[in-house]
Amino acid sequence: MTTASDLREISTRLADASPREILLHAFDAWPDCALSFSGAEDVLLLHHASKLRQDIAVFTLDTGRLHPETYRYIEQIRESYGVTIDMLSPNPAGLERLAREKGLFSFYRDGHEECCGIRKIEPMRRHLAKYTAWITGLRRDQSPTRREIALFEIDPQFVGARGPLVKINPLAGQSSGQVWEQIRMLEIPYNPLHDRGFASIGCEPCTRPTGPHQHEREGRWWWEEATLRECGLHKR
Ligand code: ADX
Ligand code: SF4
Repeated sequence: MTTASDLREISTRLADASPREILLHAFDAWPDCALSFSGAEDVLLLHHASKLRQDIAVFTLDTGRLHPETYRYIEQIRESYGVTIDMLSPNPAGLERLAREKGLFSFYRDGHEECCGIRKIEPMRRHLAKYTAWITGLRRDQSPTRREIALFEIDPQFVGARGPLVKINPLAGQSSGQVWEQIRMLEIPYNPLHDRGFASIGCEPCTRPTGPHQHEREGRWWWEEATLRECGLHKR
C-alpha cells in the first residue's frame, strides 16, 4: 500500500515535472485512477490524459445546478475527445428532503455546506470508493486554503477501494496564467463562461463573474466569509 511518506518522496522527485509527465506517472502507478472534470480550466488534464490512454475514467459531479453553458461544454468535450464521462447524480431522497424542508436556495441563508454535502460530497464519496486514486485540477495559487497542496498526497476526506485514497494534483504548481497559456497554445476548447468574466466556475447560483482586480475565487459563495469558500471536496 502507498504511504504518505512514499507520496512525499514522489512529489519531491516530480516537483519540476510537467502536468503530462505527472499524469504519466499517475497512470503507471495507479492504473485504476479516476479523473475529475469540473467543466472549467481543468480540461487541460483531460486533454493530456486522453492522449496518454484511451480508457480514462472521467467523472463530473452533476449537481443539477450547473450553468447551461457548462452542460453544453461537457457534452462538447465528451464528443470531441471521445471519452466516457460519468455524470454523478445526488441521492434523490437527500435532494427531496432539502427542497421540501428549506426550498431551493437555502445556501444563501444558512451556508453552502448542507447543499454541497448532498449534491457533491455524498456522490463523490460513493464514486471514489471504487478507485485507489483520483486526479484533480487543484492549484496552489487558487486560494490560501490550497497553498499547501502536494502533487501526490493521501486524501484526508475520502476513502478508496483499498483504504486510503491517493489524491493527485498535477497542476498544483502551475499558475492560472500557465494553465491558460497551455489551453490557448494547444487550442483546447474551454467553457465560454470564462470569456464572460467567470474565472472560477461552479454551480450557477453560487458563482458570479469577477472583475480584473479580484481574486479568481471571489466569485464563488461570495456571500460567505473567504475562509469558508471550500465546498468540502478538498478539505485539508
Ligand atoms: S470547488 O471545491 O471549489 O468546487 P473548484 O471549482 O475550485 O472546486 O475545482 C477544483 C477541482 O475540484 C477541479 O479541478 C476538479 O478536480 C474538482 N471539481 C470541482 N467541481 C467538480 C465537479 N463538478 N465535478 C468533478 N470535479 C470537480
Ligand atoms: Fe448547492 Fe451551491 Fe454547493 Fe452547488 S455550489 S452544491 S448549488 S451550495
